Amino acid sequence: MTNNDPTSALDLSPLSVGDLLCTSQLTTDDIHRIFATARAVKHGREVHTQVLRHKRLAMIFEKDSLRTRFTFDIGMQDLGGTAVFMDHRDARLGSRESVKDVAKNLERWVHGIVARTFKHKTLDELATHADIPVINGLSDMVHPCQALADFFTLTEKWGELRGRTLTYVGDGNNTCHSLIHTAAKLGVHIRVCSPEGYEPNSRVVNEAMRTGATTGSEVTILNDPDAAAEGADAIYTDVWASMGQEDEIEERNGIFAAYQIDEDLMARAKPDAMFMHCLPAHRGWEVTQEVLDGPQSVVYDIAENRLHVQKAVMALLIR
Ligand code: CP
Ligand code: NVA
Repeated sequence: MTNNDPTSALDLSPLSVGDLLCTSQLTTDDIHRIFATARAVKHGREVHTQVLRHKRLAMIFEKDSLRTRFTFDIGMQDLGGTAVFMDHRDARLGSRESVKDVAKNLERWVHGIVARTFKHKTLDELATHADIPVINGLSDMVHPCQALADFFTLTEKWGELRGRTLTYVGDGNNTCHSLIHTAAKLGVHIRVCSPEGYEPNSRVVNEAMRTGATTGSEVTILNDPDAAAEGADAIYTDVWASMGQEDEIEERNGIFAAYQIDEDLMARAKPDAMFMHCLPAHRGWEVTQEVLDGPQSVVYDIAENRLHVQKAVMALLIR
C-alpha cells in the first residue's frame, strides 16, 4: 500500500525536554533534530501537513518584538494552528495575578505558550505550573530561539559545525549566553570579547566549559577585539544596551566604542567569515553600515531562519 501521509517524512517524536527555556537543557541530539525538522519545513515537506491543526498558541510579551512575534504567529498559521498575542508591556506577568494562575488558566485554553519576559524566573514559573510547553521568546538571561536560528544558518553555510570558531564581540548578554550554551553543545569554539565588567555570566561560561570538554568546544573569554577576531569563521554582535537598559545607553556607548565591528575588524577574521547579528541593529554603533549591509552579512538569512527553526520547535514540542 502506498503511504500517502505527507507527515510521514517528518520525525515528530518528542524531544528530551517538554519546554524550551534554555539551550543548555537540550541534548546535542535534540538540537540536531530541530535542525533536521527546520530543514524539512523550510524546503516544503510540511506544506500540506497541518501538523498543528486545531492547536492554539498563547504569545505573552513583556517587551517589544518584530522578528519573534511575527515568526511565531506566521509559523503557527503555516502549521495549521492559531496564535493569540497578549501585549503585557504595561502590566508585567505576575502583577495582575500570579504567574501560577496565568499558567493554570492558559493551559485550559491553548496548547503552548511563547513568552518574552524580563526575569528568566518568570519563564521557569510558567513552565512549572503549565502542563503545556513553554517556549522562551527571550528573557534577560537567554535567547534560545535566536541561537538555534543562528547555528541553523551556520549549518546551511558550512555543513559541519564542529571545529569552527564563532567570535562574539560586545555585551555579555542574553543573546551571548545562548550562543555560548549552544556552541558548547555543538562542538563549536566560541570566543567572547567584551569590555571589562560586561563579560558573560560566569555560571554560563563555566557550564559551557564543562559541556565543551565533552564535545570538543573551547570557550574563551577575552577583552581584546583584534585577538578575538583573528582567524574566526564568523563574527557576531548585538546591541550594547538591551531592552530594559535604556537608561544606560549613553554610558554604554562610551564604554563599548572600541568594540564596534568595522571592516578592519572583519579583515582579521577568515576572508569568507560571516557577519552575524540577531537584530535590531544600530548602524554606526555596534556595527558599521558597511559591514551590516556588506557582502559578508547574513543577518536577513538568520531572520528568515527564525521562522523555520521555530516551526520545527513548535512541531516537536506541541501535542
Ligand atoms: N532578534 C529578535 O529576537 O528580534 P525581535 O526582538 O524583533 O523579536
Ligand atoms: N540583547 C537584545 C536582544 C534583542 C533581540 C535585547 O535583549 O534587547
